[in-house]
Amino acid sequence: MAVDTRFWAEVSDDQLLAAVSETENVSFVMDVFRRLSPDPKWTKLALAQLEKGHVETRCFISWLAREIQPANYLEIGVRRGFSMVTVAARAPEAELFGFDMWVPGYAGVDNPGPRFVERELQRVSKGKKPRFISGNSHETLPNFFSGGRAAWSTGCCGGRCLTPIRLT
Ligand SMILES: C[S@@+](CC[C@H](N)C(=O)[O-])C[C@H]1O[C@@H](n2cnc3c(N)ncnc32)[C@H](O)[C@@H]1O
Repeated sequence: MAVDTRFWAEVSDDQLLAAVSETENVSFVMDVFRRLSPDPKWTKLALAQLEKGHVETRCFISWLAREIQPANYLEIGVRRGFSMVTVAARAPEAELFGFDMWVPGYAGVDNPGPRFVERELQRVSKGKKPRFISGNSHETLPNFFSGGRAAWSTGCCGGRCLTPIRLT
């Protein structure tokens, strides 16, 4: 079922919370977390929250992806791919674009990079191959959306990384 775009004007905070807290949705998110390789810092914390009945960011993402079935999903700041993987699990037809500069030790946790995220995606979805655009999003995003052409890089992800190149 596609979300009516007027939904956002009409829904109350309580209604939205009730929707994302549905048992099916929370169970789905927990199942995704359990299928991923455990993050030393966040996996246990996130699962503990969900088991207590609290919602977690991925509950919103999961519910939105289920309802909207997006054709495209673009994420800035992917890290291990918790959110991207959730979208892929809910909407396997979505084209996935991930922008990240893979800052080592970001916020005190490891940041294993695009190949790792590809493997995580394979754990939960047989959907489309992700495209990763590595670099500072302050530069890569404007390039991506500008008139500059995007060229497929063959360097780091077997041709699936997209390196935006501005051609003047
Ligand atoms: C909090 S993590 C993202 C978490 C992720 N959305 C998830 O679902 O788990 C933030 C990420 O943003 C990336 N990042 C921070 N500043 C950036 C920038 N200017 N350009 C590209 N990536 C950036 C970091 O490398 C890191 O991987």
